[in-house]
Amino acid sequence: MALYSEKVMDHFRHPRNVGVIEDADGVGEVGNAKCGDIMKMYLKIEDDVIRDVKFETFGCASAVASSSMATELIKGRPVSEAMQLTNRAVAEALDGLPAYKMHCSVLAEEAIRNALDDYYARHPEKEKEA
Ligand code: FES
Repeated sequence: MALYSEKVMDHFRHPRNVGVIEDADGVGEVGNAKCGDIMKMYLKIEDDVIRDVKFETFGCASAVASSSMATELIKGRPVSEAMQLTNRAVAEALDGLPAYKMHCSVLAEEAIRNALDDYYARHPEKEKEA
């Protein structure tokens, strides 16, 4: 069996939503101290819906694929749903990751959570949903 699924390879070779949102409503950056990989997420939010999301990832193939898939999973979705996104859901959507690469999908979950935390910090009037 191939180490990486077709979906992982596709999202690694053709990552969706790469880039920066200059006037983002929330920005989250996380890193993994062991491997040194870094992921940054930018969210544009209107009416409690993620209208746009972009990412920059300096990391391994699984981290790039996880970021790309995570952006696809939350784009156009309500903030409340994005708050619930787990690294397992990202890995499942990629048709799995090798066990020792699961931490790469954790970066995607954490980067989105941090970006949402940043959004809530900028909007104290909003009630955090999770
Ligand atoms: Fe560190 Fe993949 S090896 S995020």
